[in-house]
Amino acid sequence: MSLSSPVEKRSAQRGTAPAERTAPLLRAAILGTGGVAHLHAAALRSLSGVELVAAADPSAEHLAAFAEAHAVPFRYTTLEELLAAQPIDVLHVCTPPGGHADQSIAAFAAGAHVVVEKPAALSLTALDTMTRAAGAAGRGLAVVFQQRSGTAAAHVKALLDSGALGRPLSALCQTHWYRTAEYFAVPWRGTWATEGGGTTLSHGSHQIDLLAYLLGEWSAVHATMWRQQHDVETEDLSHGSLVFASGAVASVVSTVLAPRESSLLRIDTERATIELEHLYGHGHAHWRITPAPGVDEETSASWDLPEQEIPSGHDALFAEIHPSLIAGRGMPGLVAHPARALEIITGMYVSAREGRWVSRADLTDPALRGGLAAPVIDGRPGTPAGPPAG
Ligand SMILES: NC(=O)c1ccc[n+]([C@@H]2O[C@H](COP(=O)([O-])OP(=O)(O)OC[C@H]3O[C@@H](n4cnc5c(N)ncnc54)[C@H](O)[C@@H]3O)[C@@H](O)[C@H]2O)c1
Repeated sequence: MSLSSPVEKRSAQRGTAPAERTAPLLRAAILGTGGVAHLHAAALRSLSGVELVAAADPSAEHLAAFAEAHAVPFRYTTLEELLAAQPIDVLHVCTPPGGHADQSIAAFAAGAHVVVEKPAALSLTALDTMTRAAGAAGRGLAVVFQQRSGTAAAHVKALLDSGALGRPLSALCQTHWYRTAEYFAVPWRGTWATEGGGTTLSHGSHQIDLLAYLLGEWSAVHATMWRQQHDVETEDLSHGSLVFASGAVASVVSTVLAPRESSLLRIDTERATIELEHLYGHGHAHWRITPAPGVDEETSASWDLPEQEIPSGHDALFAEIHPSLIAGRGMPGLVAHPARALEIITGMYVSAREGRWVSRADLTDPALRGGLAAPVIDGRPGTPAGPPAG
């Protein structure tokens, strides 16, 4: 394999295998220095062997505040300037969604791995292009779905995968978040062209991704999109039914209209009920596993969460990704299936558009992979198109 990344070249120059070298092993940069970038920088700081060497943002104000807060040595206005000036091993893409695809592709071309914020792209077509570019460059692509991370999700996934809990039958996947009009005043939010989708994509995707991480491949989805309150183009509420390849059926609700916010998963299997209630991240206390009648105590005790606890979050996610890159193993299994949540959500928008069940196989049609826009039923009083009659 050619030595195309800075970490591999430095390793070769020193004549050491990546795992044997000392810091700094991985040169990271952050593109986009707004809200979420601060979580990335804080998480990177907690990792040994990783150095945040550069950041870029056309907003001088954001960039200066960010670089000061996180002691970033090199600052640029554009990604092109950054990539021309700095050899980078991994680029963290923290910009609005519309730029993610082109920015990731430019980073791959420069030999960097990419950790891109959700949503990875505005369409499956764009994500396909990113995945192909990563493959062509021999680099890895990770989408930030940090709720997969932490010891509880790993434990529950292992229990489900082992068959210990029996067949999953029924699930709830609910994102009840609250966002004000000020939140949507940011120019890129609330439109199909710039945000890509509404609350299903921007907020619900975390729980949808976590449910699919736990239950595996999906097979079909049916959904309706609603605008109940906000003056936006996209939906602020969606309801869906999601069927998994295992046969499990999930009811999926995503909304930004919930004054008491909560994120909720529930999976009923043949032998147990798994419940998770949290908001933006989970630790062990947020999970509960209740055995079905007839399961003996010794068995249900063996399902207890482990004593060692790592909560979910950007820290926990990057603690899996970056050491794996440093060791030369590429992206870890934790970030496998980067497109799955976007596939399910694309299926939901297609379903709302065409008023039918959409199967995973349907989405091989390029015409359905190209975008997310769907008609939204306006449920606001006095709006011309109210909810369907009858
Ligand atoms: N994983 C999570 O929990 C989580 C949380 C919040 C946001 N996000 C995602 O992170 C992304 C950014 O969200 P945010 O809330 O930080 O947005 P933001 O608007 O606060 O910040 C975006 C930053 O990107 C900069 N930017 C815009 N175009 C750029 C370009 N071409 N090159 C470089 N910088 C550019 C802007 O100036 C701004 O500083 C979105 O995709 C969002 O969905 C994820």
